[in-house]
Amino acid sequence: MQRSIIYTSLRNLLKDNIKWIFNLDIEEVTINKQISLPPKPEMGDMAFSCFLLARELKKSPQMIANELSMKMIFSEDDIFKKVEQTGPYLNFFLNEKNLSKAVLICSKKGSLTKPFEKKQDKIMVEFSQPNTHKGIHIGHIRNMAVGDSLIRILRHTGYETISANYLGDSGAHIAACLWHYEKSKMENTNNSEKGEWLGIVYTEAKKYLEENPTEKNNVSKVQKLLENKDPYWICLWNETREWSIEYFKSIYKWLDIHFDVWFYESEEEEPGKVIVEEFLNKRIFKYSDGAVICELEDLPLAIVLKSDGTTLYSTKDLALAKRKFEEFHIDRSIYVVGDAQSLHFKQIFSILKKMGFKQADKCYHLAYGMVSLPEGKMSSRTGNVVLFSDLKKSMNEYIYESYLDSKKDWSDEKKKVTSRKIIVAAIKFGMLDQDVKKNIEFRMEDWLSFEGDTGPYILYAFARIQSILRKSEKSGMEIEPDFDNSHLLTMSEEKYVIMDIQEFPDIIEHVANDYCIDELCKYLLKLSKDFSKFYHNCSVLKADRGLAAARLQLIKAVSEILKTGLNLLGIDPPEEM
Ligand code: ARG
Repeated sequence: MQRSIIYTSLRNLLKDNIKWIFNLDIEEVTINKQISLPPKPEMGDMAFSCFLLARELKKSPQMIANELSMKMIFSEDDIFKKVEQTGPYLNFFLNEKNLSKAVLICSKKGSLTKPFEKKQDKIMVEFSQPNTHKGIHIGHIRNMAVGDSLIRILRHTGYETISANYLGDSGAHIAACLWHYEKSKMENTNNSEKGEWLGIVYTEAKKYLEENPTEKNNVSKVQKLLENKDPYWICLWNETREWSIEYFKSIYKWLDIHFDVWFYESEEEEPGKVIVEEFLNKRIFKYSDGAVICELEDLPLAIVLKSDGTTLYSTKDLALAKRKFEEFHIDRSIYVVGDAQSLHFKQIFSILKKMGFKQADKCYHLAYGMVSLPEGKMSSRTGNVVLFSDLKKSMNEYIYESYLDSKKDWSDEKKKVTSRKIIVAAIKFGMLDQDVKKNIEFRMEDWLSFEGDTGPYILYAFARIQSILRKSEKSGMEIEPDFDNSHLLTMSEEKYVIMDIQEFPDIIEHVANDYCIDELCKYLLKLSKDFSKFYHNCSVLKADRGLAAARLQLIKAVSEILKTGLNLLGIDPPEEM
């Protein structure tokens, strides 16, 4: 459904006129399909094709276009002023003054930024899913940014949403970490957060095992002990697992990311075994060399239980999916996971279908590309990683040196709060602004820049508007202008801004349907740039009273959209910069 003001108005105009000219009730979706942009701008602002209507009315499309163009009535405040016929097409021309007026009225009512009407579907988005006993690095943050923004966007567009986390708290990596922890008696010399330090222990363990491969046997022994619930190792696992969870939670808090439910791999092991048993009996799975497998039509066969009877990543995913469907009654299940796991998810969804879960068709793997540093690829296994805490530190130092140190009249608290907001904006925007499928490079200085296509650039535009609004209030100017003044907005810079604003609901709808968060980023950049051009050429505070009032309302509309749009990306803009 098209939601921009221009689309909505044209749809209503056509619906009403078709009703009274042909006495025909036509559905909105049918009209939408026939609306397009004219091939050349001089031909008009919007076009409508009469082919579908022709079929309905059993007349030629040319005849219908002709009749409509002759009889159509435009009311005085319609945002279209005239229509011209070209063969089977109608071309409509905007009444720009009325458009400005309509946009400002909608903005004042808040109808451009308010959440959409409630929808029936319940959607779960599973994201983040870090492994305990490992560190968090910049690659993990891309996942968090995408999942969190998607949840916000889906919620805004009316879906009932559940944000879910799924911690990797069982498996070989934990045995390696705990084994090394016990053996090496490593000390937390830098006094890092315990959970983060555990990640360093893990990296050390991996390095050690690479150099001393014979020691891998000992790790396997620890893994067995853990699987057999040996009290000593389980106790150590419990304690250290808590450290990781605390560490993750502190990062989520800092990034303003929230989860409604927490799943754990360790909790899906037993249910996983039960499911395998059940579907062995139902002959959907079968034994092969002692392991349990599932044969799939167009995909490589999947192993769902190891020959020693222990679970695999896939075993647990089957149990988890079943739980999501049955306990949460979701209509759509989205998994935000790196593209390296594409085959795994294809197999899981296909197995679920064989198992008879209808919801399998509504499972979706939202795969994202890797994040690398200019220095090269990262992985917590080889130790070539930059921990998130270190990046945060460097970004903070950079922001102070390049910007905040010069704010002599700001309190330390204000600098601290603003620095966090700028860093969050820089990171999330940098992550979201690019096609989710593509691999990206994290470039700290570029992402933090106030110029160019960055989060901070948009924050700056937002803060600038807040500053104008504060000044105008101080000087006693009317914040709520008389709407009749909208006809004074005649500069081309003003018209571009009006055109951007009216499109906002449409953009969100599109992004929610296609999961293309980068398009929301591009839109916000365009709006900020168009605002900047306006700001440089059209003064608000020095304009005549009437014009100033209209311009104030215009920039207020821009700031509300920027704020809503940024919030949908998980970014909270500072009021002052
Ligand atoms: N913890 C896993 C990893 O780091 C990702 C889990 C993805 N979710 C899932 N349902 N398999 O690779």
